[in-house]
Amino acid sequence: MVLQRHGGQKIAVVMVGLPARGKTFVARKLQRYLSWLGYSTLWVNVGDYRRARAGAQQPAEYFAPDNEATREEREGFAMAALDDLLAWFKKDGEVGIYDATNADRTRRDIIRKECSAAGVGVLFVETICDDPKIIDANVRRNKLGLPDYAGMSADDAFRDFRGRIAQYERTYRPVEDEEGSYVKVVDAGRQVISNRIEGYLSSRLAFFLMQIRPTERAILLSRHGESEFNLADRIGGDAPLTERGRKYAEALANFVRERPIEPVVWTSTLQRTVATAAAIGHETESLRALDEIDAGVCDGLTYEEIKAQWPEEFASRAGNKFRYRYPRGESYADVILRLDPVIVELEGLRSPVLIVAHQAVLRALYGYLMGKPQDECPYLQVPLHTVIQLTPTETGYDEERFLLPV
Ligand code: F6P
Repeated sequence: MVLQRHGGQKIAVVMVGLPARGKTFVARKLQRYLSWLGYSTLWVNVGDYRRARAGAQQPAEYFAPDNEATREEREGFAMAALDDLLAWFKKDGEVGIYDATNADRTRRDIIRKECSAAGVGVLFVETICDDPKIIDANVRRNKLGLPDYAGMSADDAFRDFRGRIAQYERTYRPVEDEEGSYVKVVDAGRQVISNRIEGYLSSRLAFFLMQIRPTERAILLSRHGESEFNLADRIGGDAPLTERGRKYAEALANFVRERPIEPVVWTSTLQRTVATAAAIGHETESLRALDEIDAGVCDGLTYEEIKAQWPEEFASRAGNKFRYRYPRGESYADVILRLDPVIVELEGLRSPVLIVAHQAVLRALYGYLMGKPQDECPYLQVPLHTVIQLTPTETGYDEERFLLPV
């Protein structure tokens, strides 16, 4: 499966759209998803090149298409970012994400030509939104805090950003069919239109783009309460909760009740997660994909017993914990593959969600949400009796942790 996954396809995902249409949100999500699945990815943002080279604080007129003094400079930044992306593809890059407005056809034609000369396919991802309420909210939420507006009043910054959008509107031309592969995401996912999507990777990206929506809903992650196996240091199994574990279930239910949210609750199919979520009193969904990593022949043993009975296995796992697969069981890499549908489902969900699962599974989910490199996943801290609350931002999630008293 892993061998087939790449098929040698190198893809530049070229974002398109007026400012404040959620391009960066989509770009960062795509990057996190792909790197979590094991692709080597890079995100380049032309705005960052401009801020670094021309200084952050440029007024709306700087972006005017007929401003002779700045047009060439801006094209230069765009090309510098593209050159860096293509240089990265030459090494071992697989999916590069080119985040800029790319609003006019001439710029897109150059990008396509250069990518094609470098053997890199192009997938345009255009975000379209004409609802002034959504656009204004986007500007207020994501743009006024940019270094571009440091020291400026919120109203002045807002006015200037609207002016910047107006400059781009003068030359904006949506992607046309003859430009090749594209996915257009309209009104934050209400409609998704695609053209000439070929090959596994592009199809997978198009499918993912159909699911993602900007939302403000929180994601809560929790391991089950302490189980009899935790107490005995045994891994895997399907043991019941201990007294402390049952107390945690109560504490978790209170935690949820105290919040102004009614989360959807997902558990694994194992009794320790089902029992932990039971006190909340909401309908829960038990998903096999959330079951703990399958320790195969080591299931039910302590780490000491594994070391004594399977010394070579113990050493191989210590050598590469991410790739190591228990005999007749799973690796972290396997866990990620089986969690892919959970991620897709999670991205499509608009309501808050509480996921009650297990250490390895939550490390993998948390790794995706927080954009952690794959090899760090097996070591992420996901302790017992702790709720991890993740609240979306434009580029990722803000995190809070609550250790509940038991
Ligand atoms: O010990 C609890 C547990 O959930 C086991 O069931 C599982 O095998 C283990 O954690 C995963 O953690 P690690 O990958 O660090 O062994």
